[in-house]
Amino acid sequence: MTYSDLPEDNSPLENLHQLEDDLLERYPEPDTAESGSQFTDADKKQSEFRNYQDPARDSVKEFYRLNHVNQTVEFVKQKRAEYLGLNKRKLGVWQALEHLNTLVDDSDPDTDLPQIAHAMQTAEQIRADGHPGWFILTGLIHDLGKVLCLWDEPQWAVVGDTFPVGCKFSDSIVYSEYFGENADHQAPEYQTECGIYEPNCGLDNVLMSWGHDEYLYHVTKDYLPLQALYMIRYHSFYPGHRENAYQHLMNDQDREYFRYVKEFNKYDLYTKSSSPPDVEKLRPYYQELIAEYFPDEIAW
Ligand SMILES: [Fe+2]
Ligand SMILES: [Fe+2]
Repeated sequence: MTYSDLPEDNSPLENLHQLEDDLLERYPEPDTAESGSQFTDADKKQSEFRNYQDPARDSVKEFYRLNHVNQTVEFVKQKRAEYLGLNKRKLGVWQALEHLNTLVDDSDPDTDLPQIAHAMQTAEQIRADGHPGWFILTGLIHDLGKVLCLWDEPQWAVVGDTFPVGCKFSDSIVYSEYFGENADHQAPEYQTECGIYEPNCGLDNVLMSWGHDEYLYHVTKDYLPLQALYMIRYHSFYPGHRENAYQHLMNDQDREYFRYVKEFNKYDLYTKSSSPPDVEKLRPYYQELIAEYFPDEIAW
């Protein structure tokens, strides 16, 4: 099924690229030659020039409104119970990539790449920079949790920035004004700085909003090194890895491993303009790489 088959009010985005474009506006690729550093305050200045007349922005806003209203502790627990038993189906990793590729966006086919191309572009740039196999593989598979879209989950429960639930929503979360309509906003126990968590308890003990990151983490956690698992699990946690929010919930391991999340983020965001990869030509290389880390089939 495609997004257009979902009930209108649950799928305000015409395609996932709208969210990616929004991220690029929020976090434009820094001019490294000029600034000398990857991420600077110039990011913020540039993002002030966002075009608020753009109709795509209204769908992004509506998307985040639905996300922020519906991602409650109760909802997250329900989805974890539904999916984390990993008893939906068995799929090989390459098979899952091909399955995800059937996710048809309604957008212009000339300018938008299928999901498999984004996966390979990310992986190819990581490979070109001489990183190890597990890192390249992470680039290839990091968005595979989006198969949830094909299993009837609404957009707002699959994609978009993630954040902890069960404690105060940070102002640094995009469109945080919409949390006013979230039921947890009225629950005093969820609205203190740490909420239901102990200070510095570590993110592994924190319930994150439900989406493709958390799901894929559980699908892959027996097969990949911890650096890769952090990249997968927190790549959409922009409030954490870009805005440095929620430090009070992180432990030393989180702080150490977030450097891998940050390193990964450049490849996720800034490889989309490069030319489309030759999927058929690259396929044997990637299938071999997958086989180094994964069995023929894994549980989803
Ligand atoms: Fe993603
Ligand atoms: Fe991605």
